[in-house]
Amino acid sequence: MLIRHKKASDVASHEITPESVYLNRRRFIQASGLAAGSIMMGAAPSEAAVLPAKGAKFADLKKGYSKLGKDDALTPFDGVTTYNNYYEFGTGKSDPAKTSGAFKPLPWKVKVDGLCAKPGTIDFDEFIKPHTIEERVYRMRCVEAWSMVIPWAGIPLAEIIKRFEPQSSAKYIQFETIVRPEEMPGQRSSYILPWPYIEGLRMDEAMNPLAILAVGLYDQPLLAQNGAPLRLVVPWKYGFKGVKSIVRISFTETEPKNTWRVMNADEYGFYANVNPKVDHPRWTQASERRLTGGFLEGRRATLMFNGYEEEVAHLYTGMDLAKFY
Ligand code: MTE
Repeated sequence: MLIRHKKASDVASHEITPESVYLNRRRFIQASGLAAGSIMMGAAPSEAAVLPAKGAKFADLKKGYSKLGKDDALTPFDGVTTYNNYYEFGTGKSDPAKTSGAFKPLPWKVKVDGLCAKPGTIDFDEFIKPHTIEERVYRMRCVEAWSMVIPWAGIPLAEIIKRFEPQSSAKYIQFETIVRPEEMPGQRSSYILPWPYIEGLRMDEAMNPLAILAVGLYDQPLLAQNGAPLRLVVPWKYGFKGVKSIVRISFTETEPKNTWRVMNADEYGFYANVNPKVDHPRWTQASERRLTGGFLEGRRATLMFNGYEEEVAHLYTGMDLAKFY
């Protein structure tokens, strides 16, 4: 993976929405009931949960789990949406925002297959309808040693998995990104990565309550550059595990061959748990630079499991974390 730190000059200060503006806007939307196409948050599972129209906001997202430290300010919306890794749209951080204009996140279908009792190909609306969408504010730590704090809107992955009734032989879950070279300029070159982008989790990791499939951030549906309409978020792992624009979910008996490990097994593993004690062969993982206010700050210490040790450490009991990086 390329490592390139964003300079302060890369994001103009006028592009940045400070956290306070976001919070005020939320209060305003909630108080005024202005959110167009609002969805029923916290509704009974039988009620439809569909996304608001493009540009509109989720109304009154159900507050889900979030645990932040005192130094964890939200990364502004403009930072989250203009500083991206999404090689289907180019390898530069600003490429995905610039080159994803032709990408159509809807209509969308998700194929679920492999070792489960209820496989199928499901329209996106049907896919999310039975679920309540929650806000989860998580740190995201990229393997390149930069990080963000993002208010996601998503659905617990465990709830989605249960619907498809995986068999006991299903030990892993694999996710696949869409292949649409006509809409994704990076996919017109096979030299960047082998497409589709693949990621996976062990089944017990996937069932952990922290794992979500995100459909939005900052109260609105995901933009193309962040993986619209559906992407994985596993905050205790390096960001490359967070596969974007998912079209296929497969239950498997064997460990998925995730893209970055296939590309370079010496540098990227399957587990990819954030671990400040295991350096990347080419740089330290002991510290990171947080994107706040339009620039990357100076280095701060990286936390074990990205600060989610309490929630996930039990998944790795008995494993040599230095080996299974
Ligand atoms: N998913 C796909 N399909 N293609 C990618 O290139 N990049 C990964 C991950 N998901 C990537 C992907 C990496 S390296 C990171 S750090 C995160 O997406 C970045 O997510 P963000 O751009 O929404 O912050």
